[in-house]
Amino acid sequence: MKLTGSSPEDTEAIGYKLGRLLKAGDVVGLYGDLGTGKTTMVKGIARAFGIGSRDVTSASFTIIAEYASSPPFYHIDLYRIERGSDLDDTGIWDCLGRESVAVIEWAERIGDELSRDFIKVFLTDLGDGRREIAIDGIHEEDWNNL
Ligand SMILES: Nc1ncnc2c1ncn2[C@@H]1O[C@H](COP(=O)(O)OP(=O)(O)OP(=O)(O)O)[C@@H](O)[C@H]1O
Ligand SMILES: [Mg+2]
Repeated sequence: MKLTGSSPEDTEAIGYKLGRLLKAGDVVGLYGDLGTGKTTMVKGIARAFGIGSRDVTSASFTIIAEYASSPPFYHIDLYRIERGSDLDDTGIWDCLGRESVAVIEWAERIGDELSRDFIKVFLTDLGDGRREIAIDGIHEEDWNNL
């Protein structure tokens, strides 16, 4: 499914819509260059779980932010993880359980290590404040029925 976020607010709203389709056990991987709007999108997804957008920030030194929502929500940012480095040390695998929802920025850093199914979101800068947002793993019918 391909969408266009015409402004940061628009991208946040697309995130919110995606968030409303998520259920416990879901994992979302976000792919895209620096500044394409991954964190903006996470703010929207998190809002669907009652988490305030000001609470969702770009990772500085924290790789994992955990929110006590229902279901519990994890915002994982792998920007500082080197490709091929040992992900086992980060503790991220403990965040990908059946009881919680996890959203991962820089999901490309995971490579093939995530063997389970997950929803993939690819963000591309189209210029003029527009972003292409391609979502893989959501049924278009479910999206349109929201
Ligand atoms: N349509 C758009 N959607 C999202 N962000 C946009 C859009 N247009 C402009 N922007 C701007 O692009 C920037 C996106 O920042 P954001 O932190 O969400 O990106 P990111 O992909 O998480 O970056 P990083 O790679 O550092 O994690 C913000 O400054 C935002 O205002
Ligand atoms: Mg970010």
